[in-house]
Amino acid sequence: MSTKFGRLSEYPRVPLSVLPTVIQPMPRLSAELGLNLSVKRDDLTGLAFGGNKTRQLEFYFGAAQAQGADTIVITGAVQSNYVRVAAAAAARLGMDMHVQSEERVPDVDATYRHSGNILLGDLLGVHRYAYPSGEDEEGADKAVQAIAEGLRAEGRRPYVIPLAPGHPPLGALGYVLAAGEIVAQLQASGTSIDAIVMGSGSGFSHAGLLFGLRALGQGMAVHGVCVRRHAQAQAVRIALQCAELASMLGLKAMVSEQDIKLFDGVLAPGYGQLNPATADAIVLAARCEGLFLDPVYTGKTMAGLMALAANRTLPEGGNVLFLHTGGTPAIFAYGPQLQHWVEP
Ligand SMILES: Cc1ncc(COP(=O)(O)O)c(C=O)c1O
Repeated sequence: MSTKFGRLSEYPRVPLSVLPTVIQPMPRLSAELGLNLSVKRDDLTGLAFGGNKTRQLEFYFGAAQAQGADTIVITGAVQSNYVRVAAAAAARLGMDMHVQSEERVPDVDATYRHSGNILLGDLLGVHRYAYPSGEDEEGADKAVQAIAEGLRAEGRRPYVIPLAPGHPPLGALGYVLAAGEIVAQLQASGTSIDAIVMGSGSGFSHAGLLFGLRALGQGMAVHGVCVRRHAQAQAVRIALQCAELASMLGLKAMVSEQDIKLFDGVLAPGYGQLNPATADAIVLAARCEGLFLDPVYTGKTMAGLMALAANRTLPEGGNVLFLHTGGTPAIFAYGPQLQHWVEP
């Protein structure tokens, strides 16, 4: 591990991911978009259909084990990928899993409620609790602490994986390490990239990767595509997380305000809601590269990348790395909606 990451090795970590994930060229999509595009396959991190969350959870499970926890409590959207991977990690480590499901997406159908990550969570044996709001992070945080209190009263030793601001962003450490992995891969292959495009939700992946790259002296642009909230609010979060990372790692501030690049042009109508640009991006990636993207995160991120290529924020012919953060099980939860976009 690079010493450039300060105190990172002092944080306990449970290996959950199959690393490094490969970087692959995307020649047909490149030709389509006028870029030299490659993809970092973090959808292939190995555990339970993979995704970016395995890298983040290594540090939460490290902390949980260090505290002697026997139960994990987590909150997330109904179709949360985070919850699915955390439940799989809990199963693997012999821990119980309690999940608070937030109603973040309006007007969902029965497929959304039963397929995709819900089905996988049921197979993993999670205990579920409903939370009626999806935009009340503080309330969700309190409710999840109350679940943990109840479990404690029953003699369990719960560890809460928090999502709201106000907790050290342990998960971002996973993407500080991913920065080292990417830089090593680029050096080994003798290639360079001008920009990375990735989804920005909780912000842990975005902040971690940006911080890690700057700690390694790498100046490429990191474009976060907003999947959860608008750019202005997201920028505040990323800045806060980068500052917290500096203090957690005992390093100086690495990330300036100008370094935080966010695009929210494909977020509408809101979190977890499919829009035409996202459906087009999903179909294009499948048909050009055999690559599956999901409606909530990676499809929106690819739609954002396409918009940034169209408005020349990503210069023509530029070397661009798309971070595939997983989420593929959600494709099935949105099956009826996606079906509308598929030509016969
Ligand atoms: C598939 C996928 N991609 C991207 C993200 C966004 O990552 P982050 O929450 O680290 O910003 C998530 C978050 O849940 C996700 O599940």
